[in-house]
Amino acid sequence: MIQKIAVLGSGVMGRGIAYISALAGFSVHLYDTSDEALTNAKEEINLIFQKGMSRQKISLEQKEAAISKLTFITSIKEAVQSADLVIEAVPEKIEIKKSIFEEIDKLAPEHCLFATNTSTMSPTEMASFTKRPSKVIAMHFFNPVHKMPLVEIIKGLETAQETADVIKMTAEKMGKETVVVNEFPGFVTSRISALVGNEAFYMLQEGIGTPEDIDKAIKLGLNYPMGPFELVDLVGLDTRLNNLNYLHKTLGEKYRPAPLLIQYVKAGRLGRKTGIGVYDYTLRGDEA
Ligand SMILES: NC(=O)c1ccc[n+]([C@@H]2O[C@H](COP(=O)([O-])OP(=O)(O)OC[C@H]3O[C@@H](n4cnc5c(N)ncnc54)[C@H](O)[C@@H]3O)[C@@H](O)[C@H]2O)c1
Repeated sequence: MIQKIAVLGSGVMGRGIAYISALAGFSVHLYDTSDEALTNAKEEINLIFQKGMSRQKISLEQKEAAISKLTFITSIKEAVQSADLVIEAVPEKIEIKKSIFEEIDKLAPEHCLFATNTSTMSPTEMASFTKRPSKVIAMHFFNPVHKMPLVEIIKGLETAQETADVIKMTAEKMGKETVVVNEFPGFVTSRISALVGNEAFYMLQEGIGTPEDIDKAIKLGLNYPMGPFELVDLVGLDTRLNNLNYLHKTLGEKYRPAPLLIQYVKAGRLGRKTGIGVYDYTLRGDEA
């Protein structure tokens, strides 16, 4: 049974995963490489607690119980040495994931399961960096983690059914719905989302309409809850570009990243996390 979870990477996703895990009663170590990253994560998590309380979604007791379960930590050894489950949420770059998986394989207890929150990459490949391939799986959360109901669970070639069962139960304990699928690049959700988001950048580049018009058309005409530009600003343009590069390499031409997206990333317009992406949030003052 899972009791102790180590979350690696305290960015957009890691902090959300740590929040819902602590709220569900798991003991959580949130690891990142710098104190600065952890301070940011702590502030964001506090903000989610505050909003949850002001909307009466959580009580003061729940908040205090969850906070007492959360440890922010810059030592990977201490983060994983007694964990039952590690959830990796570091950037979507294979060389970073590889070094993390190699390291935690040496540091974590033998029974510990490893889940990657990758949007696109291969859990089979992550498993190959360890000596416990049957215990490695993808546990794909969505952004913002505390609001999105789904966890997409992806079994790699060597993932044991027992691992998938435990991860499904753990996600359910976190209050999530699940689907369990077999590995293929992009799984179900990222394959569709990357394609739609990329097409929107091609449209913008072609001068078809403003971002507002394109978002409005998709939301009201196709009944999407968010427009593709609103979504990519939330996801992070760099993260989306990394996903597209991977899908382009693995699935071919239809995933070639739009030049305009590449240009935005080069300009540092990464989305809400940098204050400006397709939209400028320094001017809008709306809620994150
Ligand atoms: N952003 C999304 O909407 C979204 C949705 C689903 C899945 N994902 C996936 O989740 C993962 C994380 O994405 P994100 O958007 O949270 O990224 P992010 O850039 O917001 O955060 C990544 C964090 O990892 C930290 N980090 C970098 N190298 C590290 C290392 N070696 N060890 C520990 N921490 C390290 C960084 O300091 C940063 O805090 C990626 O695989 C991404 O594809 C992202």
